[in-house]
Amino acid sequence: MSSTPTTEQVQAALATVQDPEIHRPITDLGMVKSVDIADDGAVGVGIYLTVAGCPMKGRIEKDVTEAVTKVAGVTSVKVELDVMSEEQRKDLQTKLRGGQAEKEIPFAKPSSLTKVYAVASGKGGVGKSSVTVNLAAALAAEGHKVGVVDADIYGHSVPRMLGASDFPTKVEDMILPPTAHGIKVISVGMFTEGNTPVVWRGPMLHRALQQFLSDVFWGDLDVLLMDLPPGTGDIAISVAQMLPGAELLVVTTPQQAAAEVAERAGAITAQTHQRIAGVIENMSYYQPTPDAEPVYLFGQGGGQKVADALTKTLGAEIPLLGQVPLDTRLREGGDEGRPLVLTTPDSEAGQVITTIAEKLVAKPRGLAGMQLGISPAGR
Ligand SMILES: Nc1ncnc2c1ncn2[C@@H]1O[C@H](COP(=O)(O)OP(=O)(O)O)[C@@H](O)[C@H]1O
Ligand SMILES: [Mg+2]
Repeated sequence: MSSTPTTEQVQAALATVQDPEIHRPITDLGMVKSVDIADDGAVGVGIYLTVAGCPMKGRIEKDVTEAVTKVAGVTSVKVELDVMSEEQRKDLQTKLRGGQAEKEIPFAKPSSLTKVYAVASGKGGVGKSSVTVNLAAALAAEGHKVGVVDADIYGHSVPRMLGASDFPTKVEDMILPPTAHGIKVISVGMFTEGNTPVVWRGPMLHRALQQFLSDVFWGDLDVLLMDLPPGTGDIAISVAQMLPGAELLVVTTPQQAAAEVAERAGAITAQTHQRIAGVIENMSYYQPTPDAEPVYLFGQGGGQKVADALTKTLGAEIPLLGQVPLDTRLREGGDEGRPLVLTTPDSEAGQVITTIAEKLVAKPRGLAGMQLGISPAGR
């Protein structure tokens, strides 16, 4: 019978396991929480995942089990998964940056005059990106300085919808964003080859967003719009951390099911202490001819339902900012990179979006969470 393995032996085995995405040993990344070795050679390993619901957890668990099983004297391996605290995640991000302090995000400074809106939805396909680019175009057409961050890592479509085919240029350590229709645009799609889907997670996503906000030269913007991935994932939480003053725009269709997920997505802001600027209902109805009866293809009332539910949950009045009808020209405009609000501004959809855009600039800049930019005395 071989003797009981030592902690050093197990640690050495763990050092051979790499995080599948970051490509560094898990022992270097602070992912090993605990190692327990029983007299009979049964080993328990505690592992910190970077985020809850990490898509790589099965893989990490398997790699850890395999590596530790190889150590002489090990009779069984039990892996227990935990999730890093915010503090631990921050440490990891600093480590990934090579110990460099985080660059400043101009929009997070209390003195920033830029209004930041994060466009969110519970699910995909509700027209979040279409609404984002048309809002941006409407604002730019009215002379506002506008930037768009395409933070929808999984379904980046903003550059195509705006016809921004150029790539960013790099000057020293600054990234100059391409411009389309007077709008500065940056997208994760500009940093990946071809159309390879981006499977970054947790810290990598956070880092990409951090870069978009701090390394990109935006100049003085009046409004920054961020197209978030659908749902309530890591990016939404990162936005809340990096830009506490950002306000959410929740996009939904009139459909009951879509409204319910949009509501849940919005309710997350109660935990992240973000403000919601309002709800936008898209695909509200279809009007075949100007005097025809509107057809409610996706039902009715979803936008109002979300606004009412969020008002109740958050205890603050959340308005329904507008109802955008279905318009084939809106889709075509998206496919061609020419937003509807520019090509057909007098269309009903164009007018509704323009009116929403005007409401966004008319609103006083949200001050929620601004004090977070200043460190309290004595710390
Ligand atoms: N109001 C609308 N009228 C017609 N087509 C629309 C409308 N809103 C969105 N679309 C189309 O629906 C599809 C999904 O919209 P998109 O903006 O990509 O949604 P999301 O970003 O939420 O996934 C796109 O093909 C888009 O052109
Ligand atoms: Mg989209």
